[in-house]
Amino acid sequence: MTKLTWLGHGTWSIETAGKHLLLDPFLDDSPVALVRSADVVADYILVSHGHYDHVADVVKIALRTGATVVSNFEICEWVAKQGVKQTEPMNLGGSIATPFGRVKSTIAHHSSVLPDGAAGGNPGGFLLTLADGAVYFACDTALFSDMALYARGENGAPLELAVLPIGDRFTMGPSDSIEAIKLLRPRRVLPAHYNTWPPIAQDVDAWTKRVRDETDAEPVVLKPGESVSL
Ligand code: NI
Ligand code: MN
Repeated sequence: MTKLTWLGHGTWSIETAGKHLLLDPFLDDSPVALVRSADVVADYILVSHGHYDHVADVVKIALRTGATVVSNFEICEWVAKQGVKQTEPMNLGGSIATPFGRVKSTIAHHSSVLPDGAAGGNPGGFLLTLADGAVYFACDTALFSDMALYARGENGAPLELAVLPIGDRFTMGPSDSIEAIKLLRPRRVLPAHYNTWPPIAQDVDAWTKRVRDETDAEPVVLKPGESVSL
């Protein structure tokens, strides 16, 4: 079984194949997170890009847990300089085998400077091909038509889940996310990266209605701390 828990904003905890994954841990300074970085477990930490609201807690969690950081080459170098021992550096279009399945680094149209001004490489997303199905995390990105290329996992199966930002302003907003769903054709779709702060506030009920009316995907709206299984 695979269980995804939204920890608020762009932060996800994923239990799959007996491993604990964290994506973009931003907890201690997040106004919506219910757990702190000192209380999470992790075998792997996936990092999409260098912005503070995605990397803030990566190093402290990796140092405490010994988790392997999976990210682009530049971010892996940045965490290694701060003492993180295990990294899996990648770049766009590449994929790696892990004990929990295949991880592919996908395109994101965004930016990626690290909090101290260091170059954060290219921003990305992740396509996970897990025993229970393919899961696509768009992470911080604009809409792009090549999302259609991610409509299937590496084994050719349709996406079980897609996680899309809907906050607008810094990423795609609700309307572009509807277009993204049409390109990705996932069985279920989850919104993220909204309602963390007022500038990315969104009416998620209106979004849910549009997903139902305009796409074939089933919308799944979680509150921070809630989970979905596949
Ligand atoms: Ni960002
Ligand atoms: Mn962000």
